[in-house]
Amino acid sequence: MTKVIKNGTIVTADLTYEADVLVDGGKIVEIGKDLTGDEVLDATGCYVMPGGIDPHVHLEMPFMGTYSTDDFDTGTRAALAGGTTMVVDFCLPQPGQGLLDAIQMWDNKSTRAHCDFSFHMAITWWSEQVFKEMETVVKDRGINTFKHFMAYKGALMVNDDELYASFQRCAELGAIPMVHAENGDVVAELQQKFMAEGNDGPEAHAYSRPPEVEGEATNRAIMIADMAGVPLYVVHTSCEESHEAIRRARMNGKRVWGEPLVQHLTLDESEYANPDWDHAARRVMSPPFRNKKHQDSLWNGLQGGSLSVVATDHCAFTTEQKRYGVGDFTKIPNGTGGVEDRLPMLWTYGVGTGRLTPQEFVAVTSTNIAKILNVYPKKGAILVGADADIVVLDPEKEKTISAETQASAIDYNVFEGKHVKGLPRYVLTRGMVAVTDGEITSEPGHGEFVKRDPAGPVNKALSSWKELTAPRKVERTGIPASGV
Ligand code: URP
Ligand code: ZN
Ligand code: ZN
Ligand code: ZN
Repeated sequence: MTKVIKNGTIVTADLTYEADVLVDGGKIVEIGKDLTGDEVLDATGCYVMPGGIDPHVHLEMPFMGTYSTDDFDTGTRAALAGGTTMVVDFCLPQPGQGLLDAIQMWDNKSTRAHCDFSFHMAITWWSEQVFKEMETVVKDRGINTFKHFMAYKGALMVNDDELYASFQRCAELGAIPMVHAENGDVVAELQQKFMAEGNDGPEAHAYSRPPEVEGEATNRAIMIADMAGVPLYVVHTSCEESHEAIRRARMNGKRVWGEPLVQHLTLDESEYANPDWDHAARRVMSPPFRNKKHQDSLWNGLQGGSLSVVATDHCAFTTEQKRYGVGDFTKIPNGTGGVEDRLPMLWTYGVGTGRLTPQEFVAVTSTNIAKILNVYPKKGAILVGADADIVVLDPEKEKTISAETQASAIDYNVFEGKHVKGLPRYVLTRGMVAVTDGEITSEPGHGEFVKRDPAGPVNKALSSWKELTAPRKVERTGIPASGV
């Protein structure tokens, strides 16, 4: 049965035009005027855009003695509710655990996904086994991104020698390393200092992770990636110091991408000063929310092109879980939700204010990351042959965000009370209508794993350049006798 999206304005990362979209068998099969189909979806007054891709979510993540509460069922349903049609989660091997073993665990968790998904692989320790399995992960499992935590000392953190070894391996395999860039050694010291001073509330979480720890680690990762000859993707860029390092690297021809989160763009550090412990703890995430100077920097980066992707790092813990850290802020599970609200919040605060054009919105929520992950134009495009992952966004539809009405399984929302304008009329996941004016009709198990090939265009170009400019021994004709 075919579906036709009629009378809308198609907005892609580079074009805005009026046309109908015909969908069949989960794919876009025709784009043009006056198309007909078995089922008509009316898009009058709406923008027809590629569904959002959130490249940074943690569903049912084992972390800090618990598991994040939104799993692949509730989390991907929440994603669709907000117009996101693909998410990328992180396989996290325990230190000592094999990578393929970890993928098996994530395969088991993801069987009830409502929308398509993929995995990044985390490198949480280093050994011959990890080195070898990285090749299987890339070639057989279709995972071309490897995440490294420079923070969470004693848990997920890896050191510089491990980063360099893994980045070199990524270069060989045509994969892209990613970093959570915070100096974990300094954070651990600051945590101890604040606790020793009796500063044990959620605000001390922010004090222990100042912008400097992020700027230093971002710059270090960029330099290590450059020496390893590989591109770099910096997750959750939250401050000017980190953005500045990324901006400078890009201006110098380095292949680096930065990913601000919609939370950092729209919420600030005053949240931690709230006298209500629960309010502040619910907003504890790493890196923490920053002040307006940093928020402006992130918006400017999206406008100027030095930052490439807006994600959420959706990692949703309930209030009860957050209370593990009463009396010790270092035990508050780190993470906030956001996957459901990313598109409406970014549309409202970005397009609605004139900070972003609709095309820039599509670029930073979908197309740019599809290209980085090497899944464009299967994903991130309104083109014949692309997957019919589509959001029909009604720019006049409004709501006030509230935990009472959200799809996410947790008991609060960090955007509670925010008024958003620009909401999905329809959301399609591979041709299936998952959302109609707020009513969710998606199915668990509909989502498929998206394989991603290595050696994307940026990896190829960079490896050619690195080979061309590699240090070479100078061949000399006359070599004098050793002058002993
Ligand atoms: O606080 C956060 N960001 N929690 C999720 C894990 C991570 O660091 O991305
Ligand atoms: Zn992180
Ligand atoms: Zn994360
Ligand atoms: Zn299905």
